[in-house]
Amino acid sequence: MEKTVSEAIAYRRSCRVYKDEPIDSVKVKHCLKNAVLAPTSSNLQLWEFYHVTTQDILNKLTKACFEQNAAKTAQQLVVVVARKDLWRKRCKANVEFINSVYDKPDMNERMAKRKKMALNYYEKLMPFTYFDFLGIFGMIKYLSLQFVGLFRPIYRQVRLSDMRIVTHKSAGLAAQNFMISMAAIGYDTCPMEGSDTLRVKRILKLPYNSEITMIIGCGIKDEKGIYGPRFRVPFKEVYKEV
Ligand SMILES: Cc1cc2nc3c(=O)[nH]c(=O)nc-3n(C[C@H](O)[C@H](O)[C@H](O)COP(=O)(O)O)c2cc1C
Repeated sequence: MEKTVSEAIAYRRSCRVYKDEPIDSVKVKHCLKNAVLAPTSSNLQLWEFYHVTTQDILNKLTKACFEQNAAKTAQQLVVVVARKDLWRKRCKANVEFINSVYDKPDMNERMAKRKKMALNYYEKLMPFTYFDFLGIFGMIKYLSLQFVGLFRPIYRQVRLSDMRIVTHKSAGLAAQNFMISMAAIGYDTCPMEGSDTLRVKRILKLPYNSEITMIIGCGIKDEKGIYGPRFRVPFKEVYKEV
């Protein structure tokens, strides 16, 4: 039986040593289907998940992860990739979806208005936000918006670096959905950012402007798999009720 959300969250720990025992890749794939249900900025879904099950690629990725135990002993790996470069394709997918959903001749005025707004978002606003050239256009947009921001609240995160953060944020949420889903079925994971991301991209034949959000080791934890008790700074230090 699957754990409850709270049980899965409490169960999940970063596991660095896994048992030499296979895990079911169908179940892992199912957890990745849960990953893509995570919320994502503007619903652009600028992510990809490489589910690595072949030994040759596992070995290569282990090397690129500096031979960390969490990679070396993992039965499978999941590479979470941020694909900011796919924004045009994802805008188009959203436009097609909107057109299919609002494809009724008898649409009332409210629906027609909603369709127009949604199309405007993906055909105008998103291209304005995501388009850039060597960071120059992003900086121009940023400076102009700072000026507008003197007079009214305005969205300011439009530089190249901001858009990278936006993309990784959503990919991170998907990664957490995945790890909690794995925990729910008694599988263990370890997120890793310790890797040579250029080598990882070469191994997976990813384009230059894609980015590795994290690599997740997957397996069943060995008794030595959890390195120590869980440590968190006191909750009162991070919880601010305002
Ligand atoms: C983005 C990210 C990157 C991480 N990178 C590594 C890593 O490269 N190697 C590693 O052993 N653990 C890595 N961790 C795991 C953290 O060390 C771990 O989550 C933290 O110590 C808290 O422990 P817990 O996950 O067991 O609660 C990473 C965690 C996150 C969220």
